[in-house]
Amino acid sequence: MKLKLGVEQIVLGDQQHINEICDEKRFHKVPGGALTAIRALTGDGLFTAYDSEMNWWVAHRLLVPAFGPIALRHMFDDMLDISSQMVLKWDRLGPEHEIECADDLTRLAFDTIGLCAFSYRFNEFYTDNAHPFAQQMADVLAESGRRVSRPGFVNDWVYRSSEQKRQENVKKMHELCDQIVTDRKKNPQPENKDLLNTMLNSVDKETGERLSDENIRFQMATFLVAGHETTSSTLSFTYYNLLKNPETLLKAQRQVDEVVGDNVLELQHLPKLTYLDACIKESLRLDSPITRWSVCPRQDTALQGKYEVKKDIQLVSNLKALHHDPTVWGDDHDEFKPERMLRSNFEKLPPHSWKPFGNGMRSCIGRGFAEQEMLINIALVLQRFQLQLADPTYKLELKSTLTIKPWNFRIKALRRAGKS
Ligand code: HEM
Repeated sequence: MKLKLGVEQIVLGDQQHINEICDEKRFHKVPGGALTAIRALTGDGLFTAYDSEMNWWVAHRLLVPAFGPIALRHMFDDMLDISSQMVLKWDRLGPEHEIECADDLTRLAFDTIGLCAFSYRFNEFYTDNAHPFAQQMADVLAESGRRVSRPGFVNDWVYRSSEQKRQENVKKMHELCDQIVTDRKKNPQPENKDLLNTMLNSVDKETGERLSDENIRFQMATFLVAGHETTSSTLSFTYYNLLKNPETLLKAQRQVDEVVGDNVLELQHLPKLTYLDACIKESLRLDSPITRWSVCPRQDTALQGKYEVKKDIQLVSNLKALHHDPTVWGDDHDEFKPERMLRSNFEKLPPHSWKPFGNGMRSCIGRGFAEQEMLINIALVLQRFQLQLADPTYKLELKSTLTIKPWNFRIKALRRAGKS
């Protein structure tokens, strides 16, 4: 355990301590750091809400089923649609084209949420430049990150114009969300099972409340922020790990050939792609796109019965340390070994030793969404292409914003013989 003197934060990195702070009777999420700064955009949306805000409870009850297995089944075709657009683009650019991996996967994740959640097409694969919303979001996240690293008075006095620009971007993004809502209200689609319809039409059984237009706007911004970088970064890391460990790539491709063959990918194939799932989980272990999450004690308490902590102190989970704790993962913790994530091994892990999706009731509501989207994407790509590193000597470089992702990571995609 490391104690950061002068800052009301304790960073924890081993399984024993993280296991302790996962006890929701004693600890709860209190959004801090960058999360407070992005509240300008996402307000009391699920990610940045405090437990004390009633809207979190109402939205949580309404939206958990909307991300559940039945809802995900309905999203399969839309996810396949967007991944197929990416595959088509790679195919048409040809085997010599160097694909900027994180860039195309960001387009993929952004389009997928837009279509599955709001039936809105950002059409990122049909334009050279990112949709203005994507750029505005990137700018807001970057400036929000910088704001929390500067003292308040420096923000107020020196960076006033940056803040003005940030607020303008937030306004434009909210306007787009509002426009999508207005269009849906004008042209209701009673049969549509997307998240927007759930948010507009559902009533919370416990309170009789509906989500307000303001809260719907915050939730829409939340899904776009929380869902796109995390997913695209996990996919980029997975392709990186597969390419750096060719025997795993071969195994993954073999599984796609056995399960899907030359057929069109179907929903029923996904549960059989167990090795691909393990590759994703292992990539999330080696590099979690969200590198930390934090909680506060509900009351003054003592960690491990001996380290006293006050109730408003932030306890930060350092996921890199947790996911490389040698007492859990062994001496080969730096190696990419998907086998350790196959179900029979995964189930034997000590409690709370793999936490890329957060914890408990504040854990990721979009986990199933992301897992389905990523499986579809990898299956389609491996079915069609032989992948190669554009630069075989490439060593992982990271870019960090709200998340971390591989940077300057370029690949080539060669159509496999006999694959149309
Ligand atoms: C929460 C990771 C994909 C929506 C979280 C948290 C983590 C996380 C660590 C907890 C944060 C905290 O405790 O402060 C990831 C990863 C993803 C992913 C690694 C992909 C691989 C998605 C997707 C969506 C989404 C696709 C939506 C479409 C959310 C929301 C929350 C959340 C709304 C807040 C839940 C709540 O507190 O009620 N995610 N996420 N995430 N995630 Fe994800």
